[in-house]
Formats: sequence, structure tokens, C-alpha cells
Amino acid sequence: MCARQKKEAWERKPERKLITSKFAERKRTMEWKQIFADAIFAAMKKTALEKKVMYSLIEHPKHEQHGDLAFPCFQLAKHLRKAPNKIAEELAANLSNSYIEKAEAVGPYVNVFFHKATAGRDILTEILSEQGEYGSSKQRGKGKVVIDFSSPNIAKPFSMGHLRSTVIGQALANLAEKNGYQAVKINHLGDWGTQFGKLMAAYKKWGDERELKAQPISTLLKLYVRFHEEAENNPKLLAEGRQWFQRLETKDREAEALWRWFRDESIKAFEKVYQLLGITFDAVQGESFYNDRMSAVVKELEDKHLLEESDGAKVVQAGDDMPPCLIQKTDGTTLYATRDLAAALYRKQEYDFASCMYVVGGEQQLHFQQLFAVLEKMGYSWAGDLVHVPFGLILKDGKKMSTRKGKIIFLERVIQEAIDKAKKNILEKNPQLPDIGEVAEQVGVGAVIFHDLKNERMGNVEFNVNHMLTFEGETGPYVQYTAARAQTLLEKARLKEGGSAAEMETVTMVDEEAWEVIKLLEQFPSEVVRAYESLEPSVIAKYLVRLSQAFNSYYGKVKILSGDAMERSRLAVAGSVIIVLKEGLRLLNIQSPQKM
Ligand code: ARG
Repeated sequence: MCARQKKEAWERKPERKLITSKFAERKRTMEWKQIFADAIFAAMKKTALEKKVMYSLIEHPKHEQHGDLAFPCFQLAKHLRKAPNKIAEELAANLSNSYIEKAEAVGPYVNVFFHKATAGRDILTEILSEQGEYGSSKQRGKGKVVIDFSSPNIAKPFSMGHLRSTVIGQALANLAEKNGYQAVKINHLGDWGTQFGKLMAAYKKWGDERELKAQPISTLLKLYVRFHEEAENNPKLLAEGRQWFQRLETKDREAEALWRWFRDESIKAFEKVYQLLGITFDAVQGESFYNDRMSAVVKELEDKHLLEESDGAKVVQAGDDMPPCLIQKTDGTTLYATRDLAAALYRKQEYDFASCMYVVGGEQQLHFQQLFAVLEKMGYSWAGDLVHVPFGLILKDGKKMSTRKGKIIFLERVIQEAIDKAKKNILEKNPQLPDIGEVAEQVGVGAVIFHDLKNERMGNVEFNVNHMLTFEGETGPYVQYTAARAQTLLEKARLKEGGSAAEMETVTMVDEEAWEVIKLLEQFPSEVVRAYESLEPSVIAKYLVRLSQAFNSYYGKVKILSGDAMERSRLAVAGSVIIVLKEGLRLLNIQSPQKM
């Protein structure tokens, strides 16, 4: 058959017409990898490997000619004591499933080709009927997942590290929900500790009320930096700071009033960032929230004979491979770890979580290891449900950024810069666009969030505003733009059809050029699972880039508004791509402008 004949045969093939409303009554189409794993399992004469294992071995071949999915037979060969090539041949010969058109043995691999018309049509129909629910877990009620994230420290600017925690945490919350859990988002604000004593001492010495009211965060930061600079030559200052903190812990009126003031001003400043990023919390329970739960924790540790004296301080041995966990200082004040113990106990009692995640930089690894170990020693079996979700550093010119020395970049400014740049872009390319301000905000913020989430969580990210503000290549705006472009197509078609959108959701046939796009669309639900299981939002970000690239190349190859029999199906491809891109962006907490 020549290419043209093949194409014609292809276009003639689909006879069955599936309407979305009918589809809704059917069970979800199974995932292709699962279909393949089932088929291999059935083709085997005796059970040598579990189906789960076979599923995990299935690969997506790099080259089209190697099929849609491939199964390597090496592991089976070991179990069956047979040559992998021989097994591949046997399996290929016996494999059968109505979705699978062809199975081929190539060396030690079984390559399968799906029936493009049937499999493709069913996927599109499924997406169009489920809309944003496509890829959502069908199981409900698997419990609550507490996610402790963002958690900036008051009286300090919202750092780049906190930005990472914020965007990763929010994405994990969205992914948890998509996977059937109920997410509980908690901001464990750093609003207690010795640093507030230092700030109070500094404010009393050098502070100016008017300045602080006008520029709270930068003024507090300046005081903090000055305190540390002067303390280097004047150790008496440190003692003063400690005294102020003790006054705070013993509920001294003046100390409390200052603390509350610093806290309120800081929260107002953080709120601006959260609003820009579209972040909300179910609870803001900072370190100070646990003040009246501290003595109970210390007492429980004592009752369980875990507390030890060490140079006047109180510690718990966390394990042979770790230094002891500091619970109470010599002066009786409690510590970060003690507050985290109280927080964990409180959360278990309040939310009865299935798991509790802490989205906090990798430099706090030891802290969380100690925390989990101490809870285990206290006899709480659920300590195993606590997970530290670390992430890499943000580097500036290859070095870690530090607040102490005042080297800090104001996040709000970075986001504002991104928005301004997006606005400039739009004004150049599409000055007629309605709601330019709103779209610019969605694009600018999307660029900042995506820039972070496309990196694997543990990788260090070089802080570079120019990179953050790049809108071409593998970026959030590129994905947003792809969705908006597809949207425009659909609108044009709707105008042509007199606005009958429902009609377009009828998939009658599928064109061959769309196959790469369809294969990717099919993978979305399993990518949602993979992203959550590995706690890795970058899985979704990378997937969205691949899908955008595939769709843009499809768009370049075929005329979608072709006016012929294929138009509907091509629109169904475009419509499905919009749904999945939007939903993927939503999981990353990025909005999709209708037009841009
Ligand atoms: N405020 C801390 C910091 O900025 C992060 C808190 C993380 N959460 C926790 N439960 N320890 O380093």
C-alpha cells in the first residue's frame, strides 16, 4: 500500500460512532500499559512474574517503528531459564487484545502497536466526557494528607527557598487531591524563637516606628542584619537579645506587643505574595500556636523516660547515627524541634492524617530525621507516616543565598517584574486583547511558578531573573500559549457551526498524524499517579511541555479546520489537548488564559 492508500484506508476504517453521553455510562477505558500487561500475562503458559512487575517493566519506545509500548523479556528469561528472544517470539505470537493491532518480537523485546482508530477514539471520547476530571483517581476517601509548606519566618523577607516550598507544596496538595486524598494545607509560620528577642533588642536601640510602619520587612531585615554585625564586636548584645526573648516567653506585655506588631506587619507582606501566587491555606498554625502545648510535650518525654540532661539543657537521644535532639535550653526556653513535636501530635489528633508531609529544604534533613525518630521512641507508630519532602537550594552565582548578610532578593519584586514583562509582550503582539492586565498576571506568575517546578525537586536551581522571565522554550507561557491557540481554533469552529459546541465532541475517526498527541494524552492519568508517588511536580511540568510540543507539531502538519470529514475529529484532538493542558497547569497552580 502506498502512503496515500494507507491514509485513505485509515480514514475509512472507523465505523463506530461514539457519543460522549453514552460513554459516560461505560467504565473508564483501561490504561494502555495495563492492557498490555494483562495481555502478556494471558499469553504466558505459566506464571513467572507478577502482573505488577510486568507492568513496571513496560517501556515507551523512543522510535515510532518500535511500536507504542515495548516489553523487555530479560527478567522473564531469568525466571524461565530460556533465551529472551525466544520468549519474545512466543509472547508476540500469542498476544491478543481488541485494542492491540499488532505484536512484534524484535530481539528480546515484544513491541505492540495499538489499534489507532479504536484506541485513539476511546481516549478522546473519554477526555471529552470527563473534562477536568480526566486523570482523577476514581477511589475516594483514602484519607487526609497534611502538607506543611511555605512556612516563612516573620520579620524576614519571603525568601527564594520559601518560594520553592510554596509552589512545590501547593502542587503536591493539588496532586494529592487529584489522586483521591483530602489535602490539608498548613502554614507553619516561623513566628517564635530567639531571633525575635534579637529583633526587639535591635528595635529598642536603633528602631524608628515610622520607618517600620512604612517599610516593615526591609526595616526589620535591616535591624536584624545590623544586630548580627554589631554583635560580632559586642557580645553583650546577644545577652540582651536572649533577655528579650525570655521576656516574650514569660508573657511580658511590652515584648508581646512588639512581637505581635512585627508578626502582623509580616503577615500582611506575605499575604501579597500568596495572593499573587494564588495560594491559600487551610490553617496558619505557626510555631507560636504551640506555646501552650510545650510543657505537655516536655512532660510526656519525661514520663516516658526519654529526657536527658546535657550541660544543663534537656535532650532526647534520637539514635546511634544522629546527634541528640535538643528539647529545652539551659534557660528553660524551648526550641524548633520541641515545637515540631507538639505540632505533629496536634495534627495527628486534629486531622488523623494518612500522611503528613513537610516541604522544607534539604538542609533541614537532620532536624526531620531526629523529629521522626523521637516520635517513634515515644511509641507513636504513625511516625512512619511522616515524610520530609526536601528540595535543592537556590543558588546565586553558584553560592547559597543567606539572609544574615542581607543578601536577599525580594520575591514580590521578581513576580512584579515578570508580570510587567508579560504585559509588554502582549502589548507588542496582541494589543487588542481584552483584560490585558489580568492575562499579564496569569502569564507572569505562570512563568515564575513553572520555572521552579520544571526542575526536579532535589536539583539546585540557579537564581536568574532573566531565565525566570523567558517565555519561549520549555516554559509556562509556552504551555499557556499552546492551550490558548487551540482554544482560538475551537472558537472559530464554533462560530462556523453556529455555536453548537456539543456537536464537536463527537469523535468519529482519528487521523494518523494525531497519534503522537493521542499517545501523550493517554499517559496523563499515569503521569498524575507517578508525579504524586514520587512527590515530583516536575513530572507534570515536563509532560505538559511534551504535550505542547506534540500538539504544535500536529498543528503544523494538518489543517485542523479542514472543512471535511476529518474536521470534527481534529477538533476533538484540539479540545482534548486544551482540557489536559489546563488541568495539568491547574495541578501546578498556574492559570490558563483563554486568549493571549
Ligand atoms: N520556618 C522554617 C524555615 O524557614 C520552616 C518550617 C518548616 N516546617 C516545620 N514544621 N518545621 O526554615
